Amino acid sequence: MGKLAEFHCDGAASLTVVGRALQRYPGAILAMRILSGIQPSGTLHLGNYFGAVEQHVQLQESAGGPDKAFYFIANYHSLTSLHDAARLEALTREVAVDYLTVGLDPKKATFFRQSDVPEVCELAWLLSCCVGKGLLERAHSYKDKVAKGLEPTMGLFNYPVLMAADILIYRSMIVPVGKDQQQHVEMAQDMAQSFNAAFECRVFVRPEWRFSTAPVVPGIDGQKMSKSYANTIPIFLPEGMTDGQAWKSYFAVIKTDSRGVDEPKDPNDSLMALYRLLSPEQAAEFEPLYVKGGIGYGELKKRLHQAYKTRFDVLRDRRQGLIASSSFVEAVLEEGAKRARAVAREVMAEARAACGISVAVSTHAR
Ligand code: TRP
Repeated sequence: MGKLAEFHCDGAASLTVVGRALQRYPGAILAMRILSGIQPSGTLHLGNYFGAVEQHVQLQESAGGPDKAFYFIANYHSLTSLHDAARLEALTREVAVDYLTVGLDPKKATFFRQSDVPEVCELAWLLSCCVGKGLLERAHSYKDKVAKGLEPTMGLFNYPVLMAADILIYRSMIVPVGKDQQQHVEMAQDMAQSFNAAFECRVFVRPEWRFSTAPVVPGIDGQKMSKSYANTIPIFLPEGMTDGQAWKSYFAVIKTDSRGVDEPKDPNDSLMALYRLLSPEQAAEFEPLYVKGGIGYGELKKRLHQAYKTRFDVLRDRRQGLIASSSFVEAVLEEGAKRARAVAREVMAEARAACGISVAVSTHAR
């Protein structure tokens, strides 16, 4: 069962059943597909890493083979916030490289671009005909994004429908996500249920969300680390940035209160939270000293920077190698696309049949 034990479960009855089955038959995990997606709308940062990427890489170990761990780059979703073709293409490539750099193994997981499976857009339409507008109007993420000034396009409004299609088209049962995506997965549960009920079928299975052990990663200003707050620390430094510049831009500036060196510090402040993520053992040793007082914030910032370098510097060569071998990266995505699309085509055919949408057999050969 491995890493899965670290994930919280929601209280849903069906999940309890799954949980019990897992306790009794750890091999049961083999029957469940894990799926998650990541938007290529910015350079990957520590929030993405500890909130998502790291657990994706860990879960590939216990998933039970590439057919059971599906990860994709959600480039269609990025169009809701990014209208710059060259940048979207570059970021899509960058996310692929970064995932492979930090350990995604194409022998253990299926890794692909969302756009390599156009059936998800087709399914999104079918689902949108079964979901009430009211449900989508309650989406926190939509409301937050509009409040932040994003244009309320139909794409942004329908974001949860496309996400439900991503999940349901592969009959995914476990969807590891950050806390901000919980509601979207619950909407996918609703849509699966509404479609099945509307067409009296059992085409879709109910997906369950899972949180990582670090659902919220603080940014350099103390708020949740997020591209839209401009408070991120990238996993890999931008081209040409020196360590000294990284120290100044990302570590020295981490926000603290004004406690002096001698004063006791809060073991749950952003600095300690980041330290615990980057280097759990060192953080555990350091914590009592920090709480007692006698150590300044500057000291912990230096330790954090060092822990960051220890963790990610070793991957720099590997990353450069992958950047140089774009044909390898493309081959991984091609293979992933083939596997994912084979599943999507079958489920899509069942979904069309369930609602009476007919197509020419010759152009829809499976
Ligand atoms: N909305 C997700 C995010 O921004 C990305 C995503 C798209 C996704 N489709 C998905 C995640 C399907 C899980 C499953 O983080």
